[in-house]
Amino acid sequence: MEGYAPPVVPSDLRATIDKLVAQRQAVILSHYYCKPEIHEVAHFVGDSLGLSQEAARNPAKVIIFCGVHFMAETASILCPDKTVILANPEAGCPMADMITHDALSARKKELNGVPVLTYVNSPAAVKALSDICCTSANVVAVLRSLPSKTILMTPDKNLAIYAQKFTPEKEILTWPGFCPTHHRLNLAEIVALKEAHPEAEVLAHPECQPKILKEAHFIGSTSGLIKRAAESAKTEFIVLTEEGVLHPMRKANPGKVFYTPATSMVCPNMKKNSLADIVVALENLAPVIKVPEEIRLPALQAVDRMMAVPRD
Ligand code: 13P
Ligand code: SF4
Repeated sequence: MEGYAPPVVPSDLRATIDKLVAQRQAVILSHYYCKPEIHEVAHFVGDSLGLSQEAARNPAKVIIFCGVHFMAETASILCPDKTVILANPEAGCPMADMITHDALSARKKELNGVPVLTYVNSPAAVKALSDICCTSANVVAVLRSLPSKTILMTPDKNLAIYAQKFTPEKEILTWPGFCPTHHRLNLAEIVALKEAHPEAEVLAHPECQPKILKEAHFIGSTSGLIKRAAESAKTEFIVLTEEGVLHPMRKANPGKVFYTPATSMVCPNMKKNSLADIVVALENLAPVIKVPEEIRLPALQAVDRMMAVPRD
């Protein structure tokens, strides 16, 4: 889209945020799915894996997390000495809520020793019961790093089906979870969009259903899709993921055009985070997300094992 104009953050609001950040020795982290104005004030914008890595390496004492609850929990798991604050405490993830500690515990008993690979989009207590975690950026590498042939993958069944294609040597057992935002894409609409823009490259996130992924030319994590939009020789793209990625895509590629389906690709939880929330979070240093030690330590093992696997 030629002439894309990023949102302008009012200078007085930016000055307030900058002053509080300095006072609190804080860093603002944002997922790409948050609103564009949040990207503009954040010190780091990333996908789930990038955010975990940044939380671990950034020296700031306070992390203001603009994302959803499981992301702030992951930061707390990795950085117990830092104060982790979720900018909007109401921002949860419906996919993460599709699995619980008790439900996984019961399934593990049935499976008798089958290792569990859990997507980071999950509660800390579920990570604590898992052998290793993954994100959409490293799922295939993580699967290949596991010696076992049979693996239970939770909670995203679409990510599991996608990853199975690259690991025919594995037998992946799935959990019936999904992302409501990605899951609602409609096949007929995507086919029509492709017909309307035959030159466009179709970029899709692996949280989409298999029938949608079949229509894609490139599948990747949020960061992977943004990188692809910049590197591809194509000038038109159909973007099949949460619409927050359009901001960095349009900002970095002024000569390229990005089409989206009419179906709303908005994660309402990611969009709950606002600039006003950031100010309040910095002023009050609340709400703190702190994973209790008895959950954190086993969850850390699973997250650390993931972090040790090189990124694709
Ligand atoms: P990634 O950031 O790993 O691409 O995941 C997308 C997502 O749905 C985050 O909630
Ligand atoms: Fe959860 Fe989907 Fe929103 Fe990501 S986009 S936070 S998986 S509901």
